[in-house]
Parts: sequence; C-alpha cells; structure tokens
Amino acid sequence: MAVLSSARDRIKRSKPLLDWYQNAARLLPWRDTNDPYRIWISEIMLQQTQVKTVLPRYQTWFATFPDIATLAAVPLDDVLKAWEGLGYYRRARFIHQAAQHIVNRHDGAFPQNFDAILALPGIGRSTAGAIAAFCFAAHTPVLDGNVKRVLRRWHEKPQATERELWTLAQQALDASACPANWNQAMMELGATLCRTKNPDCAGCPVSNACDSAFKLDVVKQIKSNIRIRDVYWQVHLHLDAEKGIWLIQRPDSGIWAGLWTPPITELAAAPGQKPCHIHLLTHRRLHLYAKVSDVPSNGSGQWVADISEFALPTGIHRLLEKQQVRPCQAN
Ligand code: ADE
Repeated sequence: MAVLSSARDRIKRSKPLLDWYQNAARLLPWRDTNDPYRIWISEIMLQQTQVKTVLPRYQTWFATFPDIATLAAVPLDDVLKAWEGLGYYRRARFIHQAAQHIVNRHDGAFPQNFDAILALPGIGRSTAGAIAAFCFAAHTPVLDGNVKRVLRRWHEKPQATERELWTLAQQALDASACPANWNQAMMELGATLCRTKNPDCAGCPVSNACDSAFKLDVVKQIKSNIRIRDVYWQVHLHLDAEKGIWLIQRPDSGIWAGLWTPPITELAAAPGQKPCHIHLLTHRRLHLYAKVSDVPSNGSGQWVADISEFALPTGIHRLLEKQQVRPCQAN
C-alpha cells in the first residue's frame, strides 16, 4: 500500500489551515478547556449529534455529574435519564462503565497515556486521539466522519480505506505545529466548509493543496455512503387512566438498549397504513405504528404514571405526542 502525501503539500496546508482555524473557529465550550473529563464527555456527545444539540446538554451534564467519582457512583438509570434525547444510548452505558473503570483502576484520575485511554469502554481510536491531543498534547490524529471526507477530497481518493486514511491523518498531523489545534481545525473544516453537500471550495484556506477542489463531481462522490434499512414496529399502548402506561425495559443490547418503551413487536412488512412516526437511526429507519391495546399487559414490565421519571427514546416520546398520550403526575 503506497499512501503518500508529499511533504510540500503537507506544509502548504499546515499554516493556512491553522491560521484559518484561529480566526474562524466557532467558540465552543470544550475548546476552552483541557480537562479530560470535559473533553471526553463532549467528544462522546458529539458523535452523531449536532453541536447545537450538544451545547445545552454539555452544560447540564456537569451540573448533574460534577466529577468522575460522582458519575461512577450513580445507578445506570440516572445516566440514561441524563442522556435522554441525545440518542445512541450505548454511549451513555459506556460512559458509566468507563467512569467505574477510571475509579477502580486509575484511582479516579483520567489516564494520560493514549493506550490507557483507548482501553476505556466506549472509546475508539479517534476519540482516544482527540482526548490525548487536546489534553496531553500527544501527536495522535482524530479521524471522524468529517476528517475522513476532508482527507479523501484532499487526496482525491474516494475509495481510501480506513488504514490509508489513518496514515494520511498521521502524516498531516505530524507536519503541523500543534496537534490539538490541528485536530480541531480538521474537524472544523469538515463541519463548516468542506461539507458533504455544497462544499465551499472558494472559501477554503487550503483549496490550492486539494486535489478535488472545485471538481464538483468528485467532491459529491466523496460523501458518506451508509446504507439504511427500513424496519416496521408495532408499538402496543396499554393505557389506564389511573395507572398510566405499561412500559418495559429493553434488553442490554440492540436498539434503545436499557431504555423504557411500550411493548414493541416487529412487523414482517410495511402495513397498508401510514406510520404514526418515523424515527431515523444511523443504520435504520424505524416506522412506528401505534396500536392502542385492550388486551391486558403481560410479561416483565410496569405501569408508569409519570414518564418523566424514566428514560424513554425520543422516537417513543414523539409517537406518544402524536397519539396525545402523556402520562404524568399532574394529570
Ligand atoms: N465533533 C467532534 N469533536 C468535535 C469538536 N471537538 N469540536 C466540534 N465538533 C466536534
């Protein structure tokens, strides 16, 4: 495998990109700290979630769980509740496990070494790279979806493999003066100018060192190509004026792991009617059909009079809103 990025090109990109970042970067609270607890939580929240959604949640998180020891000591349900609405709840479960790992194996202090960070539950190579670079000035690249797209475009390699991209990311980082700012700048470029659709090549500080610049056909080809599968779920609403709604806790793995929902059964095919709500996940489009059920509830579940006390997925909240069902204490 020959993945080469010429030294000349690397240097040509480095200073203009860092200068642009210093002037144009959005002011985000996690760019104002090198506390690994804060950086870790922000990086996990930012996976698959937009900055504008994360901003208020980032602030409230630290009011609820001011330090790692507090987080490690609370029940998982409290963490899932605090994560409500952010989606991809596996992230919250891993955060809780990682906090316990830090308390039990690192005396409560966030590890500083890349390999030890990577060993924490729920932390992959890119997130470990971000934490090590932002908090401990390590020369470790970030390679999230935005950075992959930037690298593929710079090198006009739409089919570049993960392995090639890591090599290119490392080479680019090594040519730059400051690993923390370089990683931030790459993410910022991907998020703001080198967008999936309508990239702003004219405004890009490094278009003169980009092999795809202004070539719209190439640029468009280099976008994410996740395949989404449609699934059809019947959501059984057992309702009782006094007792509320019957909810079950979902299993520890799979979609909405550990969250509370009405009983759900999967339908073999799309029914003839319109779904009550469609909820999009990374790899699935969930078509949700509400069925008000008069058969008695069974199985392991419970009546819930106030749903605000339980962690429910956003898709279920939306479905209940559309059905005008909102069990809560005040009613
Ligand atoms: N997405 C992932 N990490 C980020 C960061 N540090 N700043 C902005 N967006 C991000």
